[in-house]
Amino acid sequence: MKQPEIGHGLTTTKASFIENAQNKGQIFIHQPYELYNENNQDAWRKLYALLRPKWGKYANKKFMQGIQSLCLNPDRIPRMEEINAFLEPLTGFKAKAVSGYVPTYLFFDSLKQREFPTTITIRDSNNLNYLPEPDIFHDIAGHVPMHTDRTFADVLVKFGSLAHIAAKRHAHITNVEEKLAKIRSNIQALSRFFWFSVEFGLMREGERICVYGSGLLSSAGEIEHCVESPNVQRLPFQLEWVINQSFEIDHFQPLLFVIDSFAHLYEEVDRLEQWLNDGKLDHVAPGEPKVNDADLQTFLEVEK
Ligand SMILES: [Fe+2]
Repeated sequence: MKQPEIGHGLTTTKASFIENAQNKGQIFIHQPYELYNENNQDAWRKLYALLRPKWGKYANKKFMQGIQSLCLNPDRIPRMEEINAFLEPLTGFKAKAVSGYVPTYLFFDSLKQREFPTTITIRDSNNLNYLPEPDIFHDIAGHVPMHTDRTFADVLVKFGSLAHIAAKRHAHITNVEEKLAKIRSNIQALSRFFWFSVEFGLMREGERICVYGSGLLSSAGEIEHCVESPNVQRLPFQLEWVINQSFEIDHFQPLLFVIDSFAHLYEEVDRLEQWLNDGKLDHVAPGEPKVNDADLQTFLEVEK
């Protein structure tokens, strides 16, 4: 007999379990698996069926290996402890359930500790298009398979360590406005790097361009568009451009950057660290993404 649905289950923006956790100020939570209803499971099933053939065509090889290593089930939302049992022995990474938005410093610091903040809700099965909010399909099917690759995992750890540098290196500045402006600029530069690599990155694999960015890997429409459309500029990864380039999250990306390999991406994150230390990220071009005051504050608290 079919189980009765429990309210909205764990549907993105409608889950009372999440609302309660947020009201209590809980960021790290557990995955209450029993709350997923049939609509939630149906969303996972439909998304997986939509994306599976497109991954075969457009995803990079490491991602495809990652899907296999994690034994992702096409029919059911994964349990995080099962994913972590496969993932941790490979790279030390684990998915850690969160109630929603994670303050920027904490997000970076989690990566540094090989923990990936992972949303547990899933989009409505009647609206499977790309959402600005992450969901468990984006996080587990889009991000986590990449974390099975050692070089990619090392990129994330290195990247995560940069927030601490950004928080500490302006401590000597007594003029508060100057200090805040520099931290804000650092955060914008780091966010843009993350966006144009981990979220929306493309990679050259021999003759073809393939996808490794999780925003693309979890979008049934954009994964094809980003590789095939003549309306997308696909340019070699250029750090000076990436850190100064605004982006918008509510439509398909018109400009994407292509890396040669994950070893190449590691070299770029290494260069990003040098530039941060040299002050080259202190005055990047204004624009998106905006940095909110609460996020700035978390960096100031680390400085103390
Ligand atoms: Fe993401």
